[in-house]
Amino acid sequence: MKICVICGQKSHVIFCDRFALIGVHLRQKNDSYVIGTSVLMTKRPSKTRNVYICNACGVRLPKWSGQCPDCGAWNLVEEAPDLPAVTGRSGHTGIAAGGGEAVLLAAVSPQEHTRLGSGIAELDRVLGGGLVQGSVVLIGGDPGIGKSTLLLQACASLGQGHPVLYISGEESPQQVSLRARRLGLAGEGVRLLPETCIERVLATAAAERPRIMVVDSIQTLHTELLQSAPGSVSQVRETAAQLVRFAKQADTSIFLVGHVTKEGALAGPRVLEHMVDTVLYFEGEAGGPLRLIRSTKNRFGAVNELGVFAMTDRGLREVPNPSAIFLSRHESSVSGSLVMVTREGTRPLMVEVQALVDESPLANPRRVTLGLDQNRLSMLLAVLHRHGGVAMFDRDVFVNVVGGVRITETAADLAVLLAVLSSYRDHPLDADLAVFGEVGLSGEIRPVPNGPDRLREAAKHGIRRVIVPTANVPKPGIEGLDIVRVKSLHEAIEAVLT
Ligand code: TYD
Ligand code: MG
Repeated sequence: MKICVICGQKSHVIFCDRFALIGVHLRQKNDSYVIGTSVLMTKRPSKTRNVYICNACGVRLPKWSGQCPDCGAWNLVEEAPDLPAVTGRSGHTGIAAGGGEAVLLAAVSPQEHTRLGSGIAELDRVLGGGLVQGSVVLIGGDPGIGKSTLLLQACASLGQGHPVLYISGEESPQQVSLRARRLGLAGEGVRLLPETCIERVLATAAAERPRIMVVDSIQTLHTELLQSAPGSVSQVRETAAQLVRFAKQADTSIFLVGHVTKEGALAGPRVLEHMVDTVLYFEGEAGGPLRLIRSTKNRFGAVNELGVFAMTDRGLREVPNPSAIFLSRHESSVSGSLVMVTREGTRPLMVEVQALVDESPLANPRRVTLGLDQNRLSMLLAVLHRHGGVAMFDRDVFVNVVGGVRITETAADLAVLLAVLSSYRDHPLDADLAVFGEVGLSGEIRPVPNGPDRLREAAKHGIRRVIVPTANVPKPGIEGLDIVRVKSLHEAIEAVLT
C-alpha cells in the first residue's frame, strides 16, 4: 500500500521501478481498480469519433479513401462511428487488476465434445462427425444454392430430440412453413422467429434456451449499437460477435447463413471466418443438380471434407457414392478426357478431367480452367514445353473438371497435362485408365498423400490401369489393377500416348 499522489488515498497505487510513479489508481464503476497514467486518462476523447471501414475486408482507416489500401477494393470505404468492439478491448490503456490465473497445459483435462447427429450423414461428415455442442458454423454459398433448404431439413431432424430456434430474417414464417410442407417435414420441436434485431433475437434465445439455433441470414441482422445498414461489415461483425458469445455462454450450437458476394467472398469474409468454429461453403454448377459442401475451416474435424448432395423436388438428397456420379461414362473413348482420383478431405473421389486444345486467333492465347487453379495450368503448360517438348504458344487451352467439383490439391497435375496432350494430339485415352500425381518444375512426377486409398477407390470403380508416381505404389499391389509407376513426365507420356 502506498499513498496516491493525486487523490491522497492509501490504496492500490502501483510504482514503476524505473520511473518513480507512473500509475495512479482509478476507481471504476464496478469497484475494481485499474492502473492508468494520469496523462493518458485526461486525454481520452469524450465524444465518439468516426472511422472509415472497408466493406470488403473490414480494415479500419483513419480517413476516407476511394480505394482500400489493404485489399484494393474500390468505393467500399464507408464512414462509421468508432465504437469499442462489443467483444473486445476495455477501451483504456491500463492493466486490469486481478487478471485471470494461467494453468499448466498438462494439468488441463480435455473435454469431450458432445456431438449431435443432424440426421443428414453428408452434413455430419463435413462437420467432422456431427454438430459439436456450443459451436458456431458458418454456411456460405450463392443465393438459391440450397442453404435454407439444407438447414430446414437438418432442423427438422434435430428438432425431434432437441429444441431448435430458427431465426428467419429473409423469409416469413408462412414461407418457411410452405417450404417445410413441400419437403414433407413435420417441424416438431422447431420454433420460428422472424426477427432482424440481434438484441431481440438474443433476448428470445436466452428465454427459450434452444440447443440449436439457425440464423438465416447474418446479413439481415442488425444491432442497435450501430447506425450502418444491415449487411455492412461493421454490422455483420458485431452481430456475429454477439451470437458467438451467446453460443459459448449458453452452450447452444449456431448455424449462421452467410451470402457470398459477386466476387465469391462472404460479406466481411475475414471477419466472420476467424470468429466461427467451422466454415462450410456450397459449391456446384448453377443449374446442375449436384451440390457440394466443403469445409474450409473446422476446429473439430478435417478441412476440405466434401459432402455431396443432389437437389431434387423433395429438397437435398445425399449422394452416398459420389465417385459414380462424377464419372460420365462415354460410349467410346474420346480425346481430351481422363479420369483422376482426387482426395478431398478424408475420402477419395473419382472425377473426370476434360481438356480442349484449339488453335487460337489471339495474340495472347487463352488459358481457361473450371474447377482448377488457372495459374497452375500456365505453370504446367510451361513444364510440358520444357520437359515434354510440346509448345502451346498458339493454342487456346480449356480445362474443366466435370460435375462442378473444385480440385484444390496438386494431385490433379498429371491428369491435366495428359488430358491436354490427348486433346492436342487427338489421341483418345482408355476409359478404364486413371492417373494422379503432382508434376514438379523439373518435369519429375512427385508422390501425393494417401496413394493406396486412391488406388483402392479406382479398383472399386472398374479402373483397370493406373499411372501413378513411383513412391505411391503399395508393396503388395492391388488385385485387378495394372499399376504403372512413373518418375518423370516423359515416362508418363510414353506410357499413355504412344
Ligand atoms: P434455398 O435453400 O432457398 O437457397 P438459399 O437459401 O441458399 O438462397 O434454395 C432455393 C432453390 O432450391 C430454389 O432455386 C429452388 C430449389 N429447390 C428445389 O429444387 N427443390 C426443393 O425441394 C426446394 C425446397 C428448393
Ligand atoms: Mg435462403
